[in-house]
Amino acid sequence: MKKIKIAIQKSGRLNEDSLQILKDCGISIDNGKDQLKASSRNFPLEVFYLRNGDIPQYLRDGVVDIAIIGENVLIEKGQDITVAEKLGFSKCKVSLAVPKSVKYQSVKDFEGKRIATSYPNTVESYLKEKGVKADLHIISGSVEIAPNIGLADAICDIVSSGSTLFKNNLKEVEIMLHSEAVLAVSPEISEENTLLLEKLRFRIQSVLRARQ
Ligand code: PRP
Ligand code: MG
Repeated sequence: MKKIKIAIQKSGRLNEDSLQILKDCGISIDNGKDQLKASSRNFPLEVFYLRNGDIPQYLRDGVVDIAIIGENVLIEKGQDITVAEKLGFSKCKVSLAVPKSVKYQSVKDFEGKRIATSYPNTVESYLKEKGVKADLHIISGSVEIAPNIGLADAICDIVSSGSTLFKNNLKEVEIMLHSEAVLAVSPEISEENTLLLEKLRFRIQSVLRARQ
């Protein structure tokens, strides 16, 4: 029988809640934690554990049919990918932050400044809209350290509890977007798997209603 392929985050913030929502949908997954692929016993579904940032490309190529992913990742590198369902968990912001000691007035203060980020497209389009030109330094993690080591004047990253900013003596000054986990769909999904997707969505919708 045909199975629908779903990508979920391999490790990190979305992983646990993503598996939980599948479980709440009555889908049991035979999980070897270190396996990159797993199957369900009671729903025609295969799970692929992938890196967040790779998921948009896998959807685009039709390697997976659907994914549970942060909206922020789709905004950064998957604007062409359709969202079928907002899932209500893993809420966060993508924000600009500067050292606490800086007297911040407006977004114009970023003019000519060096900003460290893993979200270059998001920052660029935000600043472009505000008519501000800055110098982006793309790094893939631990972004908040950048101002402390003299690599940048400011950062743009995910803010959830705010504790990473706090610990690194930074303050949030611009919220660029609000994000949560979503169910995203490959443009290449087959008709057969679209039917499976509809079944899954039906279950997800009732789980989300029950959670309210
Ligand atoms: C993420 C993100 C922020 C932090 C925000 O980093 O990049 O640094 O979480 O969460 P908070 O507001 O609750 O502190 P993560 O720990 O996932 O590691 P990474 O930056 O190395 O990917
Ligand atoms: Mg981080």
